[in-house]
Amino acid sequence: MRIILIGFMGVGKTSVGRLLSKKLEFDFIDMDLEIEKSQKLSISEIFNIYGESYFRNLEKNLLRDLLKKDNLVISTGGGVVASKENIEILKGEENVIFLDAREETIIKNVSNDSNKRPLLEKDLESSIHKLLKYRYENYIKCCNYIVNVDFKNIEDIVKIIESEVL
Ligand code: S3P
Repeated sequence: MRIILIGFMGVGKTSVGRLLSKKLEFDFIDMDLEIEKSQKLSISEIFNIYGESYFRNLEKNLLRDLLKKDNLVISTGGGVVASKENIEILKGEENVIFLDAREETIIKNVSNDSNKRPLLEKDLESSIHKLLKYRYENYIKCCNYIVNVDFKNIEDIVKIIESEVL
């Protein structure tokens, strides 16, 4: 079994994925961390030095590799649904969970470390609004389950996934 967490920046994909994998005794891969390790650069450095399309290519190749594995929880980056090919691949998966949140929740969660997220501009609210508007239907297109994370802590979200999805 493979569980793939998708959703916008700041919805808790990494923390939820890590705890869920522990409970299930599955391996855990956070795609951004994996890319940072392989490139020996932070995500911001990769964007600054090589540009977004280079990063998207690394992300696409990594997703393909990971989908060959089993007993795994994968936390994707928020932009994994920016590629049509990724959407098609994710549609073929059985357990794609969309962690959904209101814009207010996202703004609150990313405001402390927005400098680590190269696609967010100084005007956080409007950049989140623009990106989310364009991506929302893509998250919906490729997920099998939607879990709303507003006002919930990581434990609560994992419990919902365990009871409703697994
Ligand atoms: C991105 C989200 C980030 C990271 C990169 C691009 C996006 O991941 O992959 O900065 O396009 O939404 P998180 O969703 O883990 O912040």
